[in-house]
Amino acid sequence: MSQANSAFLAAICLLILSVASSAETRKEAKVLILGAGLSGITAAKTLLENNITDFYVLEGQDYIGGRIHAVQFEGFTIETGANWVHLLNDEDTAPLVKRKKETEMSGVWCNYSDVIIRDENGQDITDWEIIHTFDNKIEEKIEEFQWTRKRRNMPDIPARVGLQLIGWKSNRPIEKVLEYFRLDFEHAKPPDLVSFYQLFSKGKDFFVSDPRGYGLFTKICTSL
Ligand SMILES: *[C@@H]1O[C@H](CO)[C@@H](O)[C@H](O)[C@H]1NC(C)=O
Ligand SMILES: *[C@@H]1O[C@H](CO)[C@@H](O)[C@H](O)[C@H]1NC(C)=O
Repeated sequence: MSQANSAFLAAICLLILSVASSAETRKEAKVLILGAGLSGITAAKTLLENNITDFYVLEGQDYIGGRIHAVQFEGFTIETGANWVHLLNDEDTAPLVKRKKETEMSGVWCNYSDVIIRDENGQDITDWEIIHTFDNKIEEKIEEFQWTRKRRNMPDIPARVGLQLIGWKSNRPIEKVLEYFRLDFEHAKPPDLVSFYQLFSKGKDFFVSDPRGYGLFTKICTSL
């Protein structure tokens, strides 16, 4: 670790120790975990499970959860970070799915085909044929197409090229809108800059709107 980094860490350490007045003043530990987000807390939990207790978790905020955080606004709970449970299905044994059931978390299932597309004048210009083409001919075929290529040891390609090979070209504005909604939005980049092997078919997504907040999920970890 460079001196600059050490100095930076020491500064964070001091900051946290001075804020948490009840904290021990010991400043050494074998392991430092930076951040009490889900990764940091999971790392700490894993260490504890292996009987390693000589660690510190450093966190700059006054709450646990990192990007899992909600604020109250006009009597409503507004999530400022994590908001979704992705790819849920009945057989899924992922911890979030289990937790969702246990807490009876409220929210809505998303249907990405249930959309209205409007032009700049507010006119409804939804084109169902394009939406169905994208759903049935493209989205449903992506994973199959990836596997065929992978089985033949073919290298990754830009997502744009892969989509074209499956048969999708976004020439018209309405096609570009749909593509933005389905791909750019999810990957935070246009398909030209995303790997084809990174694309995935959309599963069922659950949007959490529970007034108790998405943070209910992190209580799995904070009940250590
Ligand atoms: C941790 O310590 C407990 C109590 O001594 C012991 O039962 C357990 O097997 C230990 N776990 C590991 C992963 O070493
Ligand atoms: C999603 O919305 C579309 C368009 O309204 C509808 O045809 C489809 O049945 C819906 N799917 C589900 C699973 O509700």
